[in-house]
Amino acid sequence: MASKFQAPRGTFDILPEQARARRRLERAAAEVFGRAGYEPIATPVFEDTDLFERGVGKSTDIVRKEMFTFEDKGGRSLTLRPEGTASVCRAYLEHGMQKLAQPVKLHYLGPFFRHERPQAGRYRQFHQLGAECIGSDSPLADAEVIMLLSDLLGELGVPGVELRLGSLGSFEARRTYLEDLKAHLHAHEGELSKDVRERIDINPLRAFDSDHEGTRGVMGSAPTIVERLEGEDADHFAEVRALLDASGIAYVIDPTLVRGLDYYTRTIFSFVCDRLGAQSEIGGGGRYDGLIEQLGGQTTPAVGFAAGIERILLALDEEVAGEGRDAFVAVADPEQRQRAMALVAELRHAGASVELDLAGRSFKSQLKHANRIGARRVLILEADGSAQLRDMESGEQRAVDPGNLVGEMTGEA
Ligand code: HAM
Repeated sequence: MASKFQAPRGTFDILPEQARARRRLERAAAEVFGRAGYEPIATPVFEDTDLFERGVGKSTDIVRKEMFTFEDKGGRSLTLRPEGTASVCRAYLEHGMQKLAQPVKLHYLGPFFRHERPQAGRYRQFHQLGAECIGSDSPLADAEVIMLLSDLLGELGVPGVELRLGSLGSFEARRTYLEDLKAHLHAHEGELSKDVRERIDINPLRAFDSDHEGTRGVMGSAPTIVERLEGEDADHFAEVRALLDASGIAYVIDPTLVRGLDYYTRTIFSFVCDRLGAQSEIGGGGRYDGLIEQLGGQTTPAVGFAAGIERILLALDEEVAGEGRDAFVAVADPEQRQRAMALVAELRHAGASVELDLAGRSFKSQLKHANRIGARRVLILEADGSAQLRDMESGEQRAVDPGNLVGEMTGEA
């Protein structure tokens, strides 16, 4: 009987079948990131609340509405991490990584928490994989992190992906622009949705994200920052685009691109996928040249991204095939059990994934079970000491040398 307990709203269990798909994805990520010299890092699942308030920004939805914040027994305010960049920057400073050769290139993966309204592709506990390149202001670093995510999605075969690119300019350029944008919004207040109207002075950029018809009309004629970039900001953005062009990475410039975190400067990007519904962003990121300073360090330019693991899996239609087993060892007679166990151990030590029956099944049921777990071959130990090898795909079966079973199975016959 099912218990009355269920996983909390917006969270889910990862069952073995799904864990396998995730493992494939995680391995691919470690491989792609590792090839580019990004080293793994892991930070705690909770941090001082202040880190996110300063890092992510007090005006963001994340900090205003979505954090799981609690007090520990010592009265300190802690928060389950809603994202990873602030934590990685905290670790960079805490461990003196500014003394290492720059940039420091890191990647991470794990659970993150946001109190959002759950729907397909949006959860309260979700998983991200991400990479951060800290200590370089070169457009090469922007292009490299974009390439990492592009390569990963390509390697996994995620269909229907589009890269959207924008730039917010430096903090100063952004400040001037935001004043002009606010003025535009105030001039059209009556046409805006209530939500956007109330936040004109807090977070005017979010107006670009609105579905409200009146607001969309107003935003159609709003100034965009991309068309106003100048000087070094414009050069930086042009160079990022040239590098992407040279690397054969397709993108569209999206002057209305906004992101839900305050720390971005200059390049921002978003990978969207047409297979996902409303939550179409698979991953995104950008440059955050002011964040480390905001957290108490020296001015340190940086750029990175994170992608939602669940969204990648949804885009792949979760048809990520189970890995199956190299082999199953079946016994025609229970007397052969010890021989089977010894053989399984030997095959596993040789690196093969092998199972045997642990439930006292009849011979026929053992074969059925082997099929169920996706065993590619079944080694049948007969009562008289002889052995047969059955290929489960072709159904072909042949006698094999009982003295060289490991060799037969690992291809050294
Ligand atoms: P973000 O856009 O807030 O960026 O999240 C990155 C990705 O996490 C999203 O594109 C989405 O795939 C996934 N995601 C976010 N919220 C949820 C949710 N509630 N349920 C499922 N998936 C979700 C960041 O977090 C930045 N730290 C990225 C970054 C790294 N920027 C620079 N470095």
